[in-house]
Amino acid sequence: MNSIENTSTCEISAKSNLLIRLSAPSNTIQAKNLRVDTYASFWIQREMLFDQIRTNSYRRAILDQVKQGDVVVDFGAGTGILSMFAAKAGAKKVYALEITDMADVAVEMIKRNKLDHIITVIKQDGSTVQLPEKADVLVSEWMGGLGVDENFVPPLLATRNNVLKPNGIMIPATAKGYAALADDPSLTTILSFWYSKPYDLDLDMMGEFHGNTVLNARHSVLPDQLLSKEEELYELIMKSANKIDADFSFSGESRIIKDGSLSCIAAWFQCDMGNQTVLSNAPDKPATHWGRTSFPIYPPIPVSAGQIVRWTLSSSGVDLMKAIQSWSIRVHMPDGSVVARKFSGTQTPVHSSLFH
Ligand SMILES: C[S@@+](CC[C@H](N)C(=O)[O-])C[C@H]1O[C@@H](n2cnc3c(N)ncnc32)[C@H](O)[C@@H]1O
Repeated sequence: MNSIENTSTCEISAKSNLLIRLSAPSNTIQAKNLRVDTYASFWIQREMLFDQIRTNSYRRAILDQVKQGDVVVDFGAGTGILSMFAAKAGAKKVYALEITDMADVAVEMIKRNKLDHIITVIKQDGSTVQLPEKADVLVSEWMGGLGVDENFVPPLLATRNNVLKPNGIMIPATAKGYAALADDPSLTTILSFWYSKPYDLDLDMMGEFHGNTVLNARHSVLPDQLLSKEEELYELIMKSANKIDADFSFSGESRIIKDGSLSCIAAWFQCDMGNQTVLSNAPDKPATHWGRTSFPIYPPIPVSAGQIVRWTLSSSGVDLMKAIQSWSIRVHMPDGSVVARKFSGTQTPVHSSLFH
């Protein structure tokens, strides 16, 4: 059973006779908007709230930067958690914009915290909302595992253009993406399964599919697994970024820093939260639900310290919450041969899965 199957129809019967029925994402690839559907389910909202590195980072940033009497917009409010932080920080008005049925949960959560006189939940695509006033602060937790990969930036920037005062601030203030070549033996183990004639059948096709899938929440990629220095993929200054900035294309070369088996490109983000703190899912930072986002290279390539690897990684937003990524590597082997591979794929639609 995969994680999508886990997100079947969910009913919560709460203290106050509240009965909320959240429709499950369809188990088919044809689901209209898998990511938005995914965010309507409890497990992912729970995973985000339980990630205390993430949530406390936002809490500190909001408490430090929202001033008494501010108007705040929370784009993609989910359960309303960031809106509640803003209200506690002294905002006079908070607009919580949430596109999915999770907005109904936010309404109830906000009521139970007695903040409903400050926060208004608007169940709508935030980028199309018209508000009666402009905001001093626009806060949003929009990052996928490598930052821009959920293609959340274009609607966020449209919202910024609609609602933020010229001197307003955004939380986070900037975002950068990074990637490095890496050795992730557990990923190799998973991919090699498909090519091992399991169940006495040829399942290579699954390997081809899996090897061209961008994988989220690779907690196994830790500093020791990095085979090269990190390279910067993109930088977004949220106040001035354009829609197009959500796309990136990196092409460069890296020197291998230690012997190993090159089995993926691992990527992560780093956000400046505007209060001199950063939120990042880099391998050397405290663990978050994001882990690393990995771009598989299978079969892995044995590499030695000093070797130069040319590689590319690019991302292109397709649709709301969906991007297509392509990656390639080119390695000059000691015997004079060249190993060159190209891949492309979209991400697994959920953050974590036992089997990905
Ligand atoms: C990463 S979650 C963050 C939720 C919450 N702010 C938090 O920090 O726990 C992003 C949320 O944005 C919502 N969302 C995505 N696109 C949206 C849009 N265009 N307008 C409003 N909400 C959107 C998703 O449904 C999801 O609940």
